[in-house]
Amino acid sequence: MEHNQVRPYQHSDTSKKQEVTSMFDKIAPFYDFLNGLLSAGIDSIWRRKAIKTLTAKNPKSLLDIATGTADLAIEANKQLALTKIVGLDISPGMIEIGNRKINKKGLSNIISLEVGDSENLHYSSGSFDVVTAAFGVRNFENLKAGLSEMYRVLADDGQVLILEFSRPTIFPFKQLFNTYFKYILPTIGKVTSKDPKAYKYLYESVQLFPDYDEFASILEEIGFKKVTWKALSLGICTIYHAEK
Ligand SMILES: C[S@@+](CC[C@H](N)C(=O)[O-])C[C@H]1O[C@@H](n2cnc3c(N)ncnc32)[C@H](O)[C@@H]1O
Repeated sequence: MEHNQVRPYQHSDTSKKQEVTSMFDKIAPFYDFLNGLLSAGIDSIWRRKAIKTLTAKNPKSLLDIATGTADLAIEANKQLALTKIVGLDISPGMIEIGNRKINKKGLSNIISLEVGDSENLHYSSGSFDVVTAAFGVRNFENLKAGLSEMYRVLADDGQVLILEFSRPTIFPFKQLFNTYFKYILPTIGKVTSKDPKAYKYLYESVQLFPDYDEFASILEEIGFKKVTWKALSLGICTIYHAEK
């Protein structure tokens, strides 16, 4: 099976994109709470570290792909002196929660959220200094189409930053984490998110998704230069950084 064939519900008449959209619409009200619970709050440290790896001098504009409830966009605003941040997501439900958060924080003058498909961006080429995606690219139906679009809308000297789950390789952490990720996390997710499939899909989608050097080579294939990666939390997730 190819990684893009892993879908939340595996219905015969729906695409991965449709299933991913309806899954995130369904879990949106619980998403932030569950992120914090299931990662013991570490997810916000991962996003903080990810933004810190950007070396761009004075970036002004940032596009956060698969922004969800906008946590990476909010973190970017904290660390960088940006004048324009756009967050894009295919799930209207996630965008709604994200907008509530942004309004509450008084950030609507700088961060704007839009519903859209990362594989078909309506921004002109070269229009952002930085393009980011946290835990998003694994959900794309066509990974290379999504990454190519990220490349296209990036300015010539722009930087891309992708944070994504990876598979720990170190014994015995690999085995311990796998037990948590495969059995415990989906059970907690099942009772708290109201979608029995969502956190099973999370585990399954990570298992077939390219990570470390394999994902870095895909970025190079797309055209990205100076691709580097750094594993976090013994390999639970990885920050990929590259330039155009
Ligand atoms: C796990 S969430 C990550 C949200 C956020 N970036 C974070 O760090 O919490 C993945 C998000 O990717 C979005 N997504 C999946 N496929 C997409 C696509 N083709 N275009 C835009 N967003 C997409 C989903 O709707 C979901 O909100």
